[in-house]
Amino acid sequence: MAENKIFIFDTTLRDGEQVPGCKLNTAEKIELALQLEELGVDIIEAGFPISSPGDFSSVNEISKAIKNASVCGLTRAVQKDIEVAADALKYAKRPRIHTGIGTSDLHIKAKFNATREEILERAKQAVKWAKNFVDDVEFYAEDAGRTENEYLARVTEAVIEAGATTVNIPDTTGYCLPHQYGEKIAYLMNHVPNIDKAVISCHCHNDLGLATANSISGIINGARQIECTINGLGERAGNTSLEEVAMIIQQHKTLGFYTGIQSRLLNPLSRTVSDVMRMPVQPNKAIVGSNAFSHSSGIHQDGFLKDALTYEIINPEEVGADSSKIVLTARSGRSALAFRFQKLGFQFDRNDVDTLYNEFLKIADSKKEVSDDDLQIIGKSHSAQTA
Ligand code: KIV
Ligand code: ZN
Repeated sequence: MAENKIFIFDTTLRDGEQVPGCKLNTAEKIELALQLEELGVDIIEAGFPISSPGDFSSVNEISKAIKNASVCGLTRAVQKDIEVAADALKYAKRPRIHTGIGTSDLHIKAKFNATREEILERAKQAVKWAKNFVDDVEFYAEDAGRTENEYLARVTEAVIEAGATTVNIPDTTGYCLPHQYGEKIAYLMNHVPNIDKAVISCHCHNDLGLATANSISGIINGARQIECTINGLGERAGNTSLEEVAMIIQQHKTLGFYTGIQSRLLNPLSRTVSDVMRMPVQPNKAIVGSNAFSHSSGIHQDGFLKDALTYEIINPEEVGADSSKIVLTARSGRSALAFRFQKLGFQFDRNDVDTLYNEFLKIADSKKEVSDDDLQIIGKSHSAQTA
């Protein structure tokens, strides 16, 4: 297996679907799963089978429909959960069970009223139980972001020994700073003797807006899987955005990583997810926001019109976005105005544009954006006067 491939584990259908209002039915989930497979994700987390009959059936149907990607079902470290997940995944070509338990002292005490040793034992037993049903078992150490590194290393070693093929180190509460999360992964790489037998995975939440930065720090320090969602959907402030990590890896080739993501499908799939889940994408969202390729200030527009690379690091075509937009506002300059008049078919020289610019500013100061209709009116009136 190539060392620098980053496995993309998509959890839009599980962590993303936990968002209030984003609930999907089985048919919608199958359709999105097929599109995720086409996008090139390696693993699709299809749901939490024991949570409801609907989720069981979604995981079951997705398992039948998906041909190449691994299909994964979430469980707690509970035998019954694992059995139900194995049943839901029985038709999958590549089934994966994702089991785990909270490992921070806070989770151990507040959620389980247990000791570290008891949790370690439950973690091992869960992995061993899951191994009775599938070869591919991923273990998550919930709240790993706030778990003491030495104990986390013991848990990691024990679950790998029990058969885990991937160990997920979730920053469940989005608390870590990028250097802390990276140091945590590096600590595991350096202190877990059997670490070479498993893939280490990043699962970062966005409570402080650091999910993407933390995931990238994770792979720089040795992790080889990123758990993420389309549009960054997920519990509370969301998960790492798939489109962001895929494009960071593609843009920063010097990192030496690659993924199987077909970047041209990112914007179309973002729109589909937003429509099906009825969850609008913020306009300034990286890669997939409606303003991601819009230029509105005069200085930027002038540079962009001379050479797009001055203000764009990604060609919108590369990520399947509509072509770059020159938006006319009161901050726009003459170059952008001349460009837009030209696109509308007017042949104005520099003097015309100077005169029209004053007209344009009057309109621009009175509204947020000057439309093509506004330009037609002032353009035609100017042509009539100068004819
Ligand atoms: O955030 C988290 O810790 C999770 C686990 C269930 C993987 O979503
Ligand atoms: Zn999560």
